[in-house]
Amino acid sequence: MTARQQPKNLWIGRWGFVLAATGSAVGLGNIWKFPYMTGEYGGGAFVLVYLACILCIGIPAMMTEIAFGRRGRGSPIDAVKRVAQESGRGKIWSGFGWMSMLAGFMILSFYVVVAGWSLAYLWKAISGGLQGGSVDDMAAIFGANNANPLTLGAWSTLVTVVTMFIVGKGVQEGIERNMRWMMPGMVLLLLVMIVYAMFSGGFGEAVTFLFSFEVGKLSSEGLLAAMGHAFFTLSLSAGAIMAYGAYLPDNKSIARTTFTVAICDTLIALMAGLAIFPAIFANGMDPASGPGLIFMSLPLAFQQMPLGSVLQVIFFVMLSVAALTSAVSMIEATVAWLTERKGMSRKAAAWSSGIVLWLLSTLAMLSFNLGADWTFAGKNFFDWLDYLTSRWMMPLGGLGLCLMAGFLLRDEIFRDELRLSKRQHALWLLMVRYVSPLGIVLIFIDALGVMSIDIGSQWPWFLAVLVVIAVLGEMLSPRVKRQFTG
Ligand code: PHE
Repeated sequence: MTARQQPKNLWIGRWGFVLAATGSAVGLGNIWKFPYMTGEYGGGAFVLVYLACILCIGIPAMMTEIAFGRRGRGSPIDAVKRVAQESGRGKIWSGFGWMSMLAGFMILSFYVVVAGWSLAYLWKAISGGLQGGSVDDMAAIFGANNANPLTLGAWSTLVTVVTMFIVGKGVQEGIERNMRWMMPGMVLLLLVMIVYAMFSGGFGEAVTFLFSFEVGKLSSEGLLAAMGHAFFTLSLSAGAIMAYGAYLPDNKSIARTTFTVAICDTLIALMAGLAIFPAIFANGMDPASGPGLIFMSLPLAFQQMPLGSVLQVIFFVMLSVAALTSAVSMIEATVAWLTERKGMSRKAAAWSSGIVLWLLSTLAMLSFNLGADWTFAGKNFFDWLDYLTSRWMMPLGGLGLCLMAGFLLRDEIFRDELRLSKRQHALWLLMVRYVSPLGIVLIFIDALGVMSIDIGSQWPWFLAVLVVIAVLGEMLSPRVKRQFTG
């Protein structure tokens, strides 16, 4: 297939891609992970860095990723390879495609465990298993839920099976149809929760916690976590957005799509924060309670709400659906690759990757019971999967693609795909060449302890360095390009 051919399975409706990409982006990351990380890293400072990373790194990286996908029209591995070859570069660059496919797979293997929690809680909500008057009661329910590897494993297995079933059938129709009610429904439900919280205590504290920006307070670990989460929540560098981009029709605007997805995703995360933290403060719970945070705080809040038991069921249905629409996107890259390159049918590709996934996810699930002390450097298997992917692989993948797009590949490819005005294109180039890479590298340097960074007070220096690098880079880059292209 040449780079500009149309693939068979484009998104159907006018909103097809936007819905699917939003379905991928909005998930456990927004409602489960964002609140507990914000809690762990101290609130407003984390939120501010996260928002800055979405704007300065996430959005340009997402545009770049979709452009790669649509230009290359294939699984991330093939898409990156084709786009590189179109600029006369070698196959080696498809390494970034490999890494993102692997990241998607690794994320999915712990994601199904958390999605399994969501299903288990849905079942408990229906069957009245979430009763209790205190945070301790809720912590006990959460603990019991995880203690038995057989039941916990059954839930994550169920998620794996459903995911593979959907992916085997092809993602387009199912996702598009579900997203139409899911997104508005989720927004409505979160609004109800926020309005309730406004009148029932803890709201003021929650707002202060989330939005009092004191950047100096953020540790280097928190800085890295905030950047990693920006990638995670936008589904970047995990094969998902690029694989979906491969099905994006030629006439759709990549920039508009990207902004729509990023805005929806960010709004839902912030709304989730505003819905969840009041309950945490009102019940005297520690915001830094870790991955169990929403599972321990929300059932308590729902019990106190009028119609709470019904709302709670609706909430866990939505959380589970949101998790599924993200889960299917994580494995799409692998399935696309297996069908394109190994000649498998979609079904065979889905089920065979499902088996490998199931094995890995079982190991991740065991981190909460039998394998709780199978740790390395203080982290269990579940934590390692999350840590390696979000903190390192995704930002590294994003860095690679941005630098490739900014310096290595022919600019016409991106002019063709992004179709921005002259000014907008220059802005995009500035972001992918300097702003995003420098941001990523700085945070890496800080995390590796090479240099201690306090962006809050040192930002003028960083700005100066950025300008110097950009000016030098622009002076050098035409020459660099000529050297490469001969
Ligand atoms: N963005 C999804 C979420 O926030 C997670 C995800 C990561 C999906 C990577 C696809 C790829 O839940």
